[in-house]
Amino acid sequence: MSATVSRSRRSVLAVPGSNPRFIDKARGLAVDAFFLDLEDAVAPLEKDAARDTVVAALNEGGWDGKVRTVRVNDLTTEWTYRDVITVVEGAGAALDCLVLPKVTEASHVRWLDLLLTQIERANGLEVGRIGIEAQIEDARGLVNVDDIAAASPRVETLVYGPADFMASLNMKTLVVGEQPPGYEPGDAYHYVLMRMLMAARANDLQAIDGPYLQIRDVEGFRRAAGRTAALGYDGKWVLHPSQVEAGNEIYAPSQEDYDHAELILDAYEHATTVQRRGAVMLGDEMLDEASRKMALVVAGKGRAAGL
Ligand code: GLV
Ligand code: MG
Repeated sequence: MSATVSRSRRSVLAVPGSNPRFIDKARGLAVDAFFLDLEDAVAPLEKDAARDTVVAALNEGGWDGKVRTVRVNDLTTEWTYRDVITVVEGAGAALDCLVLPKVTEASHVRWLDLLLTQIERANGLEVGRIGIEAQIEDARGLVNVDDIAAASPRVETLVYGPADFMASLNMKTLVVGEQPPGYEPGDAYHYVLMRMLMAARANDLQAIDGPYLQIRDVEGFRRAAGRTAALGYDGKWVLHPSQVEAGNEIYAPSQEDYDHAELILDAYEHATTVQRRGAVMLGDEMLDEASRKMALVVAGKGRAAGL
């Protein structure tokens, strides 16, 4: 099964790896996935201790079917190699993916792939099981996004990093996840989001939207999430319990759309096999093979969400 439907990631919870209280709270939230952060939510002086906290939290378990990931530091720092070695040697069997931030070229992903393979071999772990989520967070990452997406079979997702992206473009705004003030027509991030989505889909990867930092503005979160969900994104980071329910709802089809998609699949299956027809009417709607494919996308997302 392709990565686009194999793991549900409607809501991806960001959890500071240095905060055992937040980690504990995360266990009880109804998110599809989470990442324990060793990067920007952890102060430089806490980086060492956070690695041990993260290893202990993964091994303790209680994650209840969630996709378990850790965000390591980016490759311009002195921390990355030790993050990977400590976390995978210490808790590789309890880890699904590593999130690599600020990926600017394919060699970053290949480096992580090779290091993971060595650690897996040396520790008797299944080689290739741990996936990679590549964060695209600046112009260089975006212009190289096709190569990054294709750099390793371990890559499962491309993740948009709006805060770093806005900073790297010199955007005149401080509100992450919202439109920049003064930009009137359309969506200022449409090109970036679509470019990433193309690279993701061309390589059978999931596309994940990044954080919305105004955590008290649930309507704002819904608006921002609704835009990327409409494009086809698979999910979005959530930073607070108030965003979890909205994320799970917005990135899944509505019950009505899901039921309709299953109806289309049944009707079209009947048409092609029993009636031997390639086009058929369902009520006022004409269906053909392309309709079946569209319905399969909606039905796949609905089934993954347990509708
Ligand atoms: C996330 O990492 C971001 O930069 O928005
Ligand atoms: Mg970032």
